[in-house]
Amino acid sequence: MFASLLWVILGLCYCSKESSQSHLGYPQLSGPSEALVKKVADFKCDLQIYPKNISITLEFYNEDKHKKLGEYTFAEDGASFPMVIEHNHDGNLVCVAKAPNINATVSNVHYLKVIEPVKGAVIDVRSGPVEFFEGKTLELSCNHTAGTYVSYKWLLNGQLVSQALQYHNRLLINRTTSKDSGSYICMAFNEFNKTKFFNASSTEVVITVKDLVSRPDISFTVLKEDSHNYSAMVTCESAKGTPPVTFSLYNRTELVANMTAKDRNATFKVPLVLGKHMGDLQCRANNGDVTEHSKWIPIVVEPVKGAVIDVRSGPVEFFEGKTLELSCNHTAGTYVSYKWLLNGQLVSQALQYHNRLLINRTTSKDSGSYICMAFNEFNKTKFFNASSSEVVITVKDLVSRPDISFTVLKEDSHNYSAMVTCESAKGTPPVTFSLYNRTELVANMTAKDRNATFKVPLVLGKHMGDLQCRANNGDATEHSKWIPIVVVPVEGPVMMDYDHDIGESYDVVSLTIYCKAAKGSFPRYQWFLNKTLLDDRGSFYSVDHQPPQQSILMLSVGWRSAGTYHCSVSDSFDHTTARRSKRVYLDKHVLNRIPILVATVVFGCFTAMILVVSVCCFLGVVFKRKALWREAYVGDGEHGRCP
Ligand SMILES: *[C@@H]1O[C@H](CO)[C@@H](O)[C@H](O)[C@H]1NC(C)=O
Ligand SMILES: *[C@@H]1O[C@H](CO)[C@@H](O)[C@H](O)[C@H]1NC(C)=O
Ligand SMILES: *[C@@H]1O[C@H](CO)[C@@H](O)[C@H](O)[C@H]1NC(C)=O
Ligand SMILES: *[C@@H]1O[C@H](CO)[C@@H](O)[C@H](O)[C@H]1NC(C)=O
Ligand SMILES: *[C@@H]1O[C@H](CO)[C@@H](O)[C@H](O)[C@H]1NC(C)=O
Ligand SMILES: *[C@@H]1O[C@H](CO)[C@@H](O)[C@H](O)[C@H]1NC(C)=O
Ligand SMILES: *[C@@H]1O[C@H](CO)[C@@H](O)[C@H](O)[C@H]1NC(C)=O
Ligand SMILES: *[C@@H]1O[C@H](CO)[C@@H](O)[C@H](O)[C@H]1NC(C)=O
Ligand SMILES: *[C@@H]1O[C@H](CO)[C@@H](O)[C@H](O)[C@H]1NC(C)=O
Ligand SMILES: *[C@@H]1O[C@H](CO)[C@@H](O)[C@H](O)[C@H]1NC(C)=O
Ligand SMILES: *[C@@H]1O[C@H](CO)[C@@H](O)[C@H](O)[C@H]1NC(C)=O
Ligand SMILES: *[C@@H]1O[C@H](CO)[C@@H](O)[C@H](O)[C@H]1NC(C)=O
Repeated sequence: MFASLLWVILGLCYCSKESSQSHLGYPQLSGPSEALVKKVADFKCDLQIYPKNISITLEFYNEDKHKKLGEYTFAEDGASFPMVIEHNHDGNLVCVAKAPNINATVSNVHYLKVIEPVKGAVIDVRSGPVEFFEGKTLELSCNHTAGTYVSYKWLLNGQLVSQALQYHNRLLINRTTSKDSGSYICMAFNEFNKTKFFNASSTEVVITVKDLVSRPDISFTVLKEDSHNYSAMVTCESAKGTPPVTFSLYNRTELVANMTAKDRNATFKVPLVLGKHMGDLQCRANNGDVTEHSKWIPIVVEPVKGAVIDVRSGPVEFFEGKTLELSCNHTAGTYVSYKWLLNGQLVSQALQYHNRLLINRTTSKDSGSYICMAFNEFNKTKFFNASSSEVVITVKDLVSRPDISFTVLKEDSHNYSAMVTCESAKGTPPVTFSLYNRTELVANMTAKDRNATFKVPLVLGKHMGDLQCRANNGDATEHSKWIPIVVVPVEGPVMMDYDHDIGESYDVVSLTIYCKAAKGSFPRYQWFLNKTLLDDRGSFYSVDHQPPQQSILMLSVGWRSAGTYHCSVSDSFDHTTARRSKRVYLDKHVLNRIPILVATVVFGCFTAMILVVSVCCFLGVVFKRKALWREAYVGDGEHGRCP
């Protein structure tokens, strides 16, 4: 009763699907996407539309392999089919539903990876022998006895190989070098269900890539056997190449000797007679496929003799800036090398090649005694030598631009001369100095030194022309600036001005006094305190002469500085012409009254005048001098000038 009810419900539900007696729906194939070989995996082939009461067969196929994998009878309550996985299950699987007299239907394609754990990895050296010369191709293959979906990694000396071309289980290195030598291991691995790895490492295979021998160098050195006999030791040496290397020594076409070296070099001893040509030798090196030949060298050892310096650039004495080129020539000698000495010191800065020494831009530092030393040199060892006699090279300094100045000389009471001095800071003497008055040559002189003095007539107060010095010690002539020759004698009036500095308590702490004459091109200034000549520097003052304009006296105001000051100006060439300024009494009190006096002047110059005159009259005879002074201040106001 209950069962029949169920069938009714089911029948109602599926009525549309079972509508046609002659129609099969498409089956749905599902199952794992990967499976281990020899293990059981469940697949499901579900069919929803099918005719009733008819026997339906489900068949499994591997589409790729056109192989039938199994066959099951369709049961309505479930379509799950366990399968024992084999290799031929790998690929695109389909399920086909078949029923008599009805067209069969094919399911979706389901891809299955059949995983077999990798086993028994081993390296197959497909390119051939494990030892070979650089440049060949190395091809390795990682084979394994079992395993599907395998990935590979290659190790060289324990390090992952990354540079080489790798595809599938192959490793390919096209142009091998010795860096590709070492122990190779391949690692094969596969995975299942994303977590479980299977691994197989091969045993190591040692590959040796040998360097081909490079072109050998040939050199020889002299060996003294006894006082009369010498041998040549000929060395053949290759920079590159995996030993053993066989070296052969040839005298033109004739094999002189051969030797297989454990190293990359070999030395042969051959007889040697000094001064005689012992043949032309060549080394040949071979460590495998190719033979490399050295250059040819003649074996002839002739001791060097008769070294002499040839000054190829010309004279031994010349001006700075020129090029000096020396050559070390010798009459005899083979395999000669050279050294140059300047004043006994090895020359290192200059350009030296073969037997030449070249100094492009000489300076006077390149002057001195040159010697060349010639050696027979074999394999960096010097044997016989010859030294040249010395050659003295003089590099002269060019004269520099001269300075011009003049002083005045008093010949007698009416006649004067200008002493014009020309002086260059640099330049090898002798130097010829010429004095020009515009275009006219006034005088010339060749000096042993770098300076010269010319006497030219002078009339005081008259412009005697513009003069220039020219200096020459060889190639070029250097010109000084022009100076006018005009001497104005000192003339009065001589004025004294001063500035003062106020200290913290508003009193005058220091004073700067200026002394100026109205005219005079060569003035000599002198300062006096209480008629005593002041030196240029004292305990409380200092003097700064700034001829011709002025002279400055700087005072620090105190008890020592109190007194009467004046200055005197004379011609420096004639002291009889002295003119002096007025005398000024200066002390602390006088100086600090200045601001009050300034105020007085501001309020009324006239009133102040009367006041001071009154004071003068009152004080009269006793303080005559001081009174006069104060009057002077009033007259001059704020600048403190003493007219
Ligand atoms: C069955 O297949 C044949 C040819 O493949 C076709 O002619 C026929 O119409 C199909 N029958 C049905 C019921 O689809
Ligand atoms: C290794 O595998 C390759 C194919 O990848 C095959 O050609 C070769 O013969 C195999 N070598 C050995 C030693 O089995
Ligand atoms: C190596 O040589 C082969 C053929 O000689 C070439 O196909 C390949 O690209 C080369 N590989 C490299 C990395 O040069
Ligand atoms: C795959 O791995 C998951 C866990 O990572 C596990 O639950 C599952 O059973 C595994 N499937 C098979 C087929 O081993
Ligand atoms: C040349 O010199 C090198 C080192 O300076 C030395 O090793 C080599 O033995 C020398 N050759 C000869 C032939 O003396
Ligand atoms: C050295 O030379 C001799 C002949 O002089 C020859 O027989 C021998 O094979 C040579 N050895 C080598 C390593 O070349
Ligand atoms: C080769 O050179 C090495 C080092 O330069 C030296 O020690 C060795 O003696 C040389 N061998 C020969 C045969 O000259
Ligand atoms: C090379 O050959 C010449 C003659 O051809 C001979 O005089 C000389 O001694 C030879 N030198 C050596 C080192 O064998
Ligand atoms: C010195 O040698 C050079 C070649 O280096 C030559 O040009 C010059 O003429 C030689 N000088 C003398 C004086 O022999
Ligand atoms: C010197 O001058 C020559 C050509 O005038 C030049 O080739 C050379 O490089 C110069 N040498 C130096 C050290 O300046
Ligand atoms: C000096 O000047 C005279 C002409 O006044 C001239 O003959 C002479 O060569 C000059 N001397 C020098 C060193 O320039
Ligand atoms: C310079 O030349 C002028 C005239 O051109 C002349 O009056 C003067 O005396 C000359 N001075 C000297 C120092 O020769």
